Amino acid sequence: MKLPVYLYGHPVLRAACEPVKEDYPELKKLVADMYETMYASDGVGLAAPQIGRNITMVVIDADPVAETFPECKGRKMTVINPELEILDGEKVSRAEGCLSLPGISEDVKRVEHIRLKWFDEDFQPHEEEISGFLARIVQHELDHLDGHLYIDHISPLRKQFIRGKLHNIMEGKTRCEYPARYAPKKRR
Ligand code: NI
Repeated sequence: MKLPVYLYGHPVLRAACEPVKEDYPELKKLVADMYETMYASDGVGLAAPQIGRNITMVVIDADPVAETFPECKGRKMTVINPELEILDGEKVSRAEGCLSLPGISEDVKRVEHIRLKWFDEDFQPHEEEISGFLARIVQHELDHLDGHLYIDHISPLRKQFIRGKLHNIMEGKTRCEYPARYAPKKRR
C-alpha cells in the first residue's frame, strides 16, 4: 500500500525518533509499504518520519543510480536502529533531493566513507564499511532520524535563494507527483 509522504513544514519531520522493537506491530507490512511508496515516487531512500512514523528505520534501494555510481549496484537495504561512524573527514559536494522537499535540489557536502551497523527487517545484525554515493544516501536518510533535512546543511545564501519554494511547500501550494501530506495549517 502506498503511503502519503509528509512534506517540509510538517512537525513529524523534526521530531525525535524511537528505536524499533522486535515486536513492533506489523513491521514487515510497514517495510513493504515503505518500499512501495519509495518506488512509486522514484526515490532511492525513504525514512520512517517521511511516512509519519517517528521510529529509527529507513529503506534504501540505490540500484536505479548504479549506472552513474557503480557502488550502488543491487544495494537494497532495510536499515533498522542504525549506528553511524564517520571514517573520512574529507567532504565532497553533490546535488541531493528529498521526497519531502519536492522541486528542490541543492549541493550538500558529505564524507564519502562511513561504517554502518544496523538490523534488517528480520532483526539480523549487519556491519559494513560503505563508500561513495551509497554512503551519501545513508547519511541523508539517517539525518531524517535525527529530525534533520539536507537543506539544514546548505549555506544561508542558498537557503535564502530557495526560501520561496520552501514557503510554497509549507503552504501546500507545491504540486507533488505522489500522494503527499502537507504541514497542518497554522492557526491565525
Ligand atoms: Ni530525504
